[in-house]
Amino acid sequence: MTANASSDGLMEEIVGLCKRRGFIFPSSEIYGGYNGFYDYGPLGVELRNNIKQAWWRDMVQRRDDIEGLDSTIIMHPDIWKASGHVDGFSDPMVDCKESKLRYRADQLFFAPVIVEGDTIGYVSVIECPEQQEVAEQAAAALKRKAAKQGELAPIVLKDYTESKPEEYELIPSPATGKPGSLTAPREFKLMFETKVGPLADDSATAYLRPETAQGIFANYKNIVDTGRVKIPFGIAQIGKAFRNEITPRNFIFRSREFEQMEIEFFISPNADWKTLHREWIDTCIDWLVSIGLPREGITEDIHPEDKLAFYSQATTDLMFQFPHGEQELWGIACRGDYDLMQHQKHSGKSMTIFDEATKEKYVPHVIEPSLGVDRTLLAVLSAAYTEDEVPNDKGQVEKRTLLKFSPKIAPVKAAIFPLLKNKPELVERAQALYKKLQLRWNVFYDASGAIGRRYRRQDEIGTPYGITIDFDTIEKDGTVTLRDRDTCEQRRVTEDELIAFLEEQING
Ligand code: GAP
Repeated sequence: MTANASSDGLMEEIVGLCKRRGFIFPSSEIYGGYNGFYDYGPLGVELRNNIKQAWWRDMVQRRDDIEGLDSTIIMHPDIWKASGHVDGFSDPMVDCKESKLRYRADQLFFAPVIVEGDTIGYVSVIECPEQQEVAEQAAAALKRKAAKQGELAPIVLKDYTESKPEEYELIPSPATGKPGSLTAPREFKLMFETKVGPLADDSATAYLRPETAQGIFANYKNIVDTGRVKIPFGIAQIGKAFRNEITPRNFIFRSREFEQMEIEFFISPNADWKTLHREWIDTCIDWLVSIGLPREGITEDIHPEDKLAFYSQATTDLMFQFPHGEQELWGIACRGDYDLMQHQKHSGKSMTIFDEATKEKYVPHVIEPSLGVDRTLLAVLSAAYTEDEVPNDKGQVEKRTLLKFSPKIAPVKAAIFPLLKNKPELVERAQALYKKLQLRWNVFYDASGAIGRRYRRQDEIGTPYGITIDFDTIEKDGTVTLRDRDTCEQRRVTEDELIAFLEEQING
């Protein structure tokens, strides 16, 4: 029987597997780690590169209407003034004066505990899928402690940004459980600052980009002037982004250094942007499914109109069922002409384009699908992580952990095994096949241990195919056994059939 591990503990299993098998390590681990930063090991970097390559191939190379770009991480600081990031890119935070811990105010929830119309205290809880339940339990405990008779009013959680000044002293700190130590919410700037050049004064201040998008807007004119683009068209970029997140958490879900895959898709101001937005949402869902995410795990969160940024016409987030709950994976926003107009104003350079089709000149509007590489990788890991039971070499059923990666993005595409390592003719043949396949794909050679153990090691890192060279290969017809990771079924194939099959599964 196959079953995905329950969400409880799934994150821990994934983090453990990633460390054990060399996917992801905490950054600077020998110095105790560094909160919000992660390093990708040998398998992690393959998986990460495969995700990026799949996105680039499908969004840029296989489309006629999207051009690629690779802009610098540090750009002219005026870009961030024009974009609004210098003044506005911040999150509300709250400090606990006693524990010195810091929280994101919009992720800290509180509620008054009311019994028969009297407020007997407050409860607080950090955002989590079970926050309502946790708060209700805390409220019941408070009522017991206060020995208050009567009915508890429903617990209505609000986030801390909605708290009133008279409530700051009453809301308990999640760190100490006691009221009186939380500060008022304050805005915390998320951009990392650095200094460029020999002077260390304010004129040298620059920023590590918090999104790749502004590099696209800053180069939009270059691409219009040098390329053969015509409306509608997009510019795509993959690259690092940095945010000094107040509470980096949930492994690589929210980190301080991460990578984005962003497209700015430029359209006419008169275009039917609602239809184009819908088309982009569908394209993004299809792509996620193409790399192996289950369709039923993806939902849409349409931002209500009254919560949209003033320049935004519409935003839909694609949500994914992560181990820690349903969370944003991909934001698809209609940003109007806000960014290009801002850069036109601040740089003094015209951002207009001549539309050959309509003979009009205008500043285009933009649809922006923006996806995190690391978040995609976590989604892929969560969906792929499986525990099942299969028979071992002795026919006894044993527990197995496997990653059901799509062959398209699996870090290792196939493992090649000689049945026995002390038979030179098997080893030689297996090595020859390994070298041949290695010219095209990332494959692995393993001769050590019982064959069942070797399969298990590959299952755990998500290698979709095991290829075994046995005596029939060298003594009979040259066929090899091809084992499927998910079903464990084996069949004999010729070398030509094998290569055609792998080609279809991996690159098809
Ligand atoms: N240019 C638009 C923009 O940056 P965003 O919603 O702030 O929009 C887009 O970010 C995507 O980048 C998110 O949907 C998420 O996948 C990823 N992302 C954002 N912040 C992140 C973080 N701290 N760690 C990992 N990924 C992050």
